[in-house]
Amino acid sequence: MPGGGLDTGGSTAAPAPFEATAASVAVRKVKNLLVGLPPTNDDVAAVTTSGAAGLQQLISTWMSDPTFQPLFRDKMVGFFRNAFQQTGFIPTEDFKHQLLENGGFDFGPFGTGAVGDDAYYRIIQNIQDSFAMTAWQLVAENRPFSEVLTTQRYRMTTAMKALYLQVEMPNDQPYASFGGKVSTVAWKVDMSGNAIPLADTLNPSSPNYLVFDDQAPATASGFKGGGFTTCQGTAGLVNDYSGYADLWQRLVGFTQRHPFAAQPDCWEHASKPYFTLDDTQDWTWVTISPKSSSDTYPQPYDLPTLRGLTELKLALPRVGFFSTPAFLALWNTNDSNQHRVTANQTLLVALGESFTGDSVIVPVSTTGLDANHSVDGTECFGCHKSLDPMRSFWAGQLDYNDRNDFPQRGNFMGGAANPRPAKTGGVFAFADVNVDKTGGTLADLGNLLLGVHDLSDPSQPITRFAMGFTQKLCAFANSTPCLESDPEFRRVALAFEKSNFSFPVLIKELFSSPLVTGASSTATFEQGGMSVSIARRDQFCQALSNRLMRTDICSISVPLPTAAQKTTLGIANNIPADAFGRGSENLVTPADPTLFFRAASEMLCEDIAIKVVDAATNTVYSSADVSNSISDMVQRIMGYPLSDPHYAQAVQILTDHYTAAKSAAGGTATKAMQSTFAAACQSPTSLSFGL
Ligand code: HEC
Repeated sequence: MPGGGLDTGGSTAAPAPFEATAASVAVRKVKNLLVGLPPTNDDVAAVTTSGAAGLQQLISTWMSDPTFQPLFRDKMVGFFRNAFQQTGFIPTEDFKHQLLENGGFDFGPFGTGAVGDDAYYRIIQNIQDSFAMTAWQLVAENRPFSEVLTTQRYRMTTAMKALYLQVEMPNDQPYASFGGKVSTVAWKVDMSGNAIPLADTLNPSSPNYLVFDDQAPATASGFKGGGFTTCQGTAGLVNDYSGYADLWQRLVGFTQRHPFAAQPDCWEHASKPYFTLDDTQDWTWVTISPKSSSDTYPQPYDLPTLRGLTELKLALPRVGFFSTPAFLALWNTNDSNQHRVTANQTLLVALGESFTGDSVIVPVSTTGLDANHSVDGTECFGCHKSLDPMRSFWAGQLDYNDRNDFPQRGNFMGGAANPRPAKTGGVFAFADVNVDKTGGTLADLGNLLLGVHDLSDPSQPITRFAMGFTQKLCAFANSTPCLESDPEFRRVALAFEKSNFSFPVLIKELFSSPLVTGASSTATFEQGGMSVSIARRDQFCQALSNRLMRTDICSISVPLPTAAQKTTLGIANNIPADAFGRGSENLVTPADPTLFFRAASEMLCEDIAIKVVDAATNTVYSSADVSNSISDMVQRIMGYPLSDPHYAQAVQILTDHYTAAKSAAGGTATKAMQSTFAAACQSPTSLSFGL
């Protein structure tokens, strides 16, 4: 479907007649979308008086004012994580390529149950967040947003720096090289449980040089061996290990079995991680530059050195969103796929568009075109003549494990040969771009992507990058894509492009546009009607968190949730969330209030009611003050400011609810107020966008 956009699903029913949205409704929607907060009297007045210009002023404030900006940042980081496809991988499986098997994040039969404390979970979050934080920081520093295609600077924590280095360490997992392990680094674990300062472990003249300790983790639930002997706490026992793959595991809180055999003397178990909390939170810019043969790597375990680094020299190219460890783990390739998925998903993220079978372009060079697909005139040629030369951008510099090993021949584990190609670069032939960059690098790809235009209106070409991101935000706002031929849509995309890809300009133009506010009809509504959508999981949880001033009220990003947090999270996970699909041009943004949504949102509201009504500490609502509590719920949770024509009626409904609940059998003031909160929380304006 070239140009993407609205799918009417073949329905012939005419959309409902368009009805212009009131200012109060538009402000409620846009403020909730951007900062998760309810509108105030002043917000509504500004838009009533000044229309879209008034809304633009408010949007500017929400994006930049210090009280609102962190809320806007959290919204956008969530959007970026999804839009750049950096989330959704299964770390223990999908990192077996980059970080190897029986090492890295492959913890063997006991899985993550044998990993101590929460460093591992925080590192996984870092991997998902790193590119989203990068995109955000580009926005915060007023860089052109198009740098998401070309950046070689990333926001990283110390743990991320260690991870990037770890991917480049030799393939020294226990079964590497036909079973005979490649020995690269020899190290030991002192099983006594006594602490060894990392400074001693790193000091060549210390007797503890490269001896790591095996302190018990703080988290009691960490696997301690069950019926098996772990040797943790055995005075005087110092075991020999080798290889970076298993050493990485020790750093994240897992001590590998010893020896590595079916019946070891000491079983794998949880240990105190070497990565500190700060090592997973100290976000900073790190520039990646090409490593020359004379450069040496810092050691992945040399955390004191890594903490201060702002440049990493690496052998693998890291450019834009399309070569991060997260993206490569999510779209793992292999010797059959040969980075085709990587290339295709990159087009979908960057341009919102990918191959069409009838593409007329014939690439200037077909280097990299697979012989099986190359027969001109076959049904395969239309796509593969462009796709195959394009995948060479990755395949020239990354092997099928997205590492730098390039195995010369197959091994007994079934791994295929993948010798290092003689040439780097590739051919980018897509839409109006047809450039032979053989001999170039992956770094050339970003500008080639930026060169692609939407030519559906030849008098006004617009970059697909601008079109694609305008469309992704349309889906974010309306839960349904906009019509890309809609003149209003094209106006917004062009304004974004003309501002040198200023993301704040895109936000301001789109979220004050009738496309989002519904203030007037546009071609999009004429074709598909004006959408009212459910609040999806992140939107609903962020709104409740921000309005009730409780960080992460659904416990979505708690690394190791408590039992109570698990309950909340379990409920929240039943609310549909934003996602993306393999091969799909549009983001997945469920809009419909299904029975599952009804049930899950009701349970979530009831769960949260207990935390915020008559809570032992720091309560938000008190049943001792019925009228103020109810007035506040109407404004804060339902989003009706005092000036709203529905305000008084909503107060009445909640007051009646409270009275009835209190006089019901078993009713107490607290229970009645909790039930009243749950009712406000499930009101249509709280659970939806567009009312
Ligand atoms: C409409 C465009 C299009 C056409 C037509 C097409 N392909 Fe593909 N092909 C793709 C894309 C895109 C991918 C990568 C998709 C992915 O992995 O997510 C792909 C992947 C593949 C792969 C790798 C599969 C794997 O993951 O192991 C093979 C093999 C392949 N195509 C063969 C063919 C053959 C043979 C034909 C003709 C019968 C054909 N393709 C026609 C677009 C196309």
